[in-house]
Amino acid sequence: MKRLTTFIAGAAVAATLGGCQQPAVSGWKSFSGDKNIERRVDSVLQLMTLEEKVGQMAQYSCNWDVTGPVMTGDYETLLKQGLVGSLFNVYTVDGVRKMQEMALSESRLKIPVLFGYDVVHGYRTIFPMPLAESCSWDLERMRKSAAIAADEASASGIAWTFAPMVDISRDARWGRVMEGAGEDPYLGSLIAKVRVEGFQGGNDWRSLADVNTVLACCKHFAAYGAAEAGRDYNTSELSQNTLMNYYMPPYLAAKEAGVATFMASFNEINGVPSTGNKWLMTDLLRKDWGFNGFVVTDYTGINEMVAHSIVRNDKEAGELAANAGIDMDMTGGIYSQHLVQSVKEGKVSEENIDRAVASILEMKFLLGLFDDPYRYLDNEREKNTIMKPEFLQEARETSARSIVLLKNDNNFFPISKDKNITVALIGPMVKDKINQNGEWAGRGEREESISLFEGLTEKYAGTNVKFIYAEGCDLLTDDSSKFAEAIATARRADIVLAAMGEDFNWSGEAACRTDLKLPGAQQALLKELKKTGKPLGLILVNGRPLDLSWEDQHVDGILEAWYLGTMAGHGMADVISGDYNPSARLTMSFPRTVGQLPLYYNQKPTGRPVPPEAPDTDYKSRYMDVPNTPLYPFGYGLSYTTFAVNSMKLDQNSFTKGGKITVTAEVENTGKVDGETVVQMYIRDLAGSVTRPVKELKGFEKVALKAGEKKQVSFTIDEALLAFYGIDMQKKAEPGDFTVWVGLNSADETNQSSFSLR
Ligand code: NOJ
Repeated sequence: MKRLTTFIAGAAVAATLGGCQQPAVSGWKSFSGDKNIERRVDSVLQLMTLEEKVGQMAQYSCNWDVTGPVMTGDYETLLKQGLVGSLFNVYTVDGVRKMQEMALSESRLKIPVLFGYDVVHGYRTIFPMPLAESCSWDLERMRKSAAIAADEASASGIAWTFAPMVDISRDARWGRVMEGAGEDPYLGSLIAKVRVEGFQGGNDWRSLADVNTVLACCKHFAAYGAAEAGRDYNTSELSQNTLMNYYMPPYLAAKEAGVATFMASFNEINGVPSTGNKWLMTDLLRKDWGFNGFVVTDYTGINEMVAHSIVRNDKEAGELAANAGIDMDMTGGIYSQHLVQSVKEGKVSEENIDRAVASILEMKFLLGLFDDPYRYLDNEREKNTIMKPEFLQEARETSARSIVLLKNDNNFFPISKDKNITVALIGPMVKDKINQNGEWAGRGEREESISLFEGLTEKYAGTNVKFIYAEGCDLLTDDSSKFAEAIATARRADIVLAAMGEDFNWSGEAACRTDLKLPGAQQALLKELKKTGKPLGLILVNGRPLDLSWEDQHVDGILEAWYLGTMAGHGMADVISGDYNPSARLTMSFPRTVGQLPLYYNQKPTGRPVPPEAPDTDYKSRYMDVPNTPLYPFGYGLSYTTFAVNSMKLDQNSFTKGGKITVTAEVENTGKVDGETVVQMYIRDLAGSVTRPVKELKGFEKVALKAGEKKQVSFTIDEALLAFYGIDMQKKAEPGDFTVWVGLNSADETNQSSFSLR
């Protein structure tokens, strides 16, 4: 393995020796706080021309994957000139090596390039899409899946992932709900933390030097998930109160977990696009929160500020971004083209450039790239790491734990292996392999995903459960020409299991919908299958909460399996057979109709709430045609057993600042099989200096219980848990009265109590 010092005489020798005694870059606060690293950064910076500094702030896509509008431009020439800081959408040891060699062999200072990629839910072993995984409420598994993704990606030359996406999303029309953790800031913050720590190997900058970790990138800062009307790239219109109390907590949690980088969102905040928003990027992120890593734009985010109508041209866009605190220009080429000139004209200070470049260089030091730019490029490690059997096993277990049982009349599920029956498998998702990974599936080979059919065939081999199959229809069109065959197949069976969903291109970036019913002819096919009178189950493979109102009325059992990734079919078969008793709980509310959106459980109270005992009362905040409530609420999910929560107790009913209350309750498995459930604590603050939500998740515990077993769960309520941004925009708990519930989902109010903070 070649060492950097063998390539260059000047910069890197100084960098490696760390011999420079100059003061650290003015205005720059290092991420690590390590004086030796600061000196090494400084020593490189001092050797750089303004052009080379600006070059570090430029990132280009090699377009092996296309993840945005393809930009024409000769990044290879810039690379050879030492004018590119980072590349993305290139991978594999050989691919990355080629680009790194190009940079190191020809550039003057031979500063190593940082290679990024969207490793969102797995690199090669694809895990359930993040929204699905969040439904497991299993933080340690989420940490592990991020760590596995980092291991595989780094073995393939990647040092930086553009993940986790921590955007709160309340509107299922938005295609990108699949990438996040749903609608709740409390759960979303815990998930943001474990995902960051999983990618980065913990919350210590030293672990970035481990060869199997990557830099994480908290995105999309901020409030990208609030796109109006659920339409991607659309404006987000939020009050400061909503922004700070609901949308910001997961980003802050990522920062607190030590995330190395942030990505700016496409939307505007308070009239200024995030990419040019100094309040957001400097005042809040750096000054208030103390973030000392670097910030990259999203794809052409700087260029887009012209279309946003905040600047007149590209050059002004670059100046707005640089002055706001944006360190790296993702693929837009604006910094490369204009920033040197802007500095010369005094529109952007060189101090500002130095701060940005120091932050970027520091990450390269922390990753060990200055010591050995080829340290991630080991063909043997790549071969041995990708899709290790233990990674596949973990993906399978996580898949099963991400499936939500939405309905189960007459115990349609599980389909026991002891039965002697014929099951008709009907629908476009039965044999499908290519949709299972969903969007943002890294290097996952779609053909390698296990289909439901494969999973079931293996699971039931040697049993008396026989499967017959008909596709019935495709995913998207209204073509009903294959209905007859499907109905005939259903008639020959004892029970029917339909597998339906959304084409993977229908969720993810730029994939929004206005109709959330099953697309194409699928619902029509279900209606025909229902007419056969056979017990009818449905397993869904899709990327967002759907409108399942008809299905909920007419189908016996519904499993929401989402896009589960490489091991999808095995995960589904584990649940369908009952080998794994489903334990996932929704992290986004399912609407009764798209007209209810945005829909989320932690809504603000209205002055005219609907009286539960008289829901048709006039002049109340309601619809004429459907109730306000979701079809399936946040936190909801069934099991093959039943659970009950009771004996809720508070050790005291009031506390003062600095004190705490302990809430205990008993959870019991009241059914006949072992299972896991998620006991959830919700709190309502009855009055505040600003209005407070009708309830907020403030604690949960995932509990495994044998049939008949009971356990005690306990939660602590303290001041910090009750804190929020009030009328003065200071975060603190306000004295007052509170209601607390402990139950099995956000609509479960069986166990209710109250307490006060004095
Ligand atoms: C645009 C997406 O919004 C962002 O999430 C992604 O990381 C970049 N493209 C790079 O692919």
